[in-house]
Amino acid sequence: MTKKIAVLPGDGIGTEIIEQAVRVLGALKLDLDLETQPVGGAAYDQHGHPLPPVTLELAKKADAILFGAVGDWKYDNLPREHRPEQAILGLRRALGLFANLRPAILYPELANASSLKPEVVAGLDILIVRELTGDIYFGQPRGVRELSDGPFKGDRQGFDTMHYAETEVRRIGHVAFQAARKRGKKLCSVDKANVLETSQFWRDIMIDVAKEYPDVELTHMYVDNAAMQLVRAPKAFDVIVTGNLFGDILSDEAAMLTGSIGMLPSASLNASNQGLYEPSHGSAPDIAGKNIANPLATILSAAMMLRYSLDAAPQADRIEAAVQKVLQQGLRTADIYEAGTTRVSTSEMGDAVLKALE
Ligand code: IPM
Ligand code: MN
Repeated sequence: MTKKIAVLPGDGIGTEIIEQAVRVLGALKLDLDLETQPVGGAAYDQHGHPLPPVTLELAKKADAILFGAVGDWKYDNLPREHRPEQAILGLRRALGLFANLRPAILYPELANASSLKPEVVAGLDILIVRELTGDIYFGQPRGVRELSDGPFKGDRQGFDTMHYAETEVRRIGHVAFQAARKRGKKLCSVDKANVLETSQFWRDIMIDVAKEYPDVELTHMYVDNAAMQLVRAPKAFDVIVTGNLFGDILSDEAAMLTGSIGMLPSASLNASNQGLYEPSHGSAPDIAGKNIANPLATILSAAMMLRYSLDAAPQADRIEAAVQKVLQQGLRTADIYEAGTTRVSTSEMGDAVLKALE
């Protein structure tokens, strides 16, 4: 049966990297129906909204979404609801994509690309499971208000609300425990339970969910310490589960351990395994249009899409093997370039992956 893929390139380098991933998908001879629509700033320019109805409707009916990146400085002064970031937040919300899987894998060929010593990061393979539709990202109320008492009485105050419902914690807990079960069987839940009520509640629920997974070892860590341990001894982690805000920060940190955020894919899944797949990096407007961005994170995101949403694990394996092969051949985009390797452009990297697939 034909599978429908929504292709949403977005802004900045989004179009260039998505183009390479689409070529790779095309080479697999699968029964896929790809339809492209604008998202983010590109959609705002065309339709006056970062997530216009044509794009949202396509995303809803698709089996999977391949997403590039959104954002550009030129939209910074728009009202918040029209900024490009609202597109990805809106998609996560509208499709209920609560489970964000962000693997951080260090390819042996890139051990020197990391800012950490090779012996600290060699063989790194961790998975961050980030809750994606709750927390202070979506909590209400939020806004700016005038204070009616206290030391700053009469002052204006910006505010947001952090909260987690039990169901939200439980369902991301199950995703994380099940992922850990298939890997090293160690799960570290990251919170700030020494300060935040939301975090203490999160921790209590995780301890309860753990009863269903006696084969997985659950530990807890405060987020400040986790940020430190990730650069001190990252290999001590297997799977990390955390809330939306902490997961945002820790996943960028973890990505950098691997040398380049340009290598890391991600999947955002809902309860029916419909998923949105995107590179972990942003739209990088500073290098957009130069054909120098690394398309591998997006190509690897397409592989995750095949595995998690399209029931095509063998083809996902093929893509991942092809990526490994081009790295072994010494081909590097600028972000992972080092002396002794061959620098290639975005499209040349795509060419090389296509060739390695043959
Ligand atoms: C990410 C991004 C988004 C987030 C932004 C663009 C809204 O940083 O996917 O990590 O904060 O979740
Ligand atoms: Mn982020």
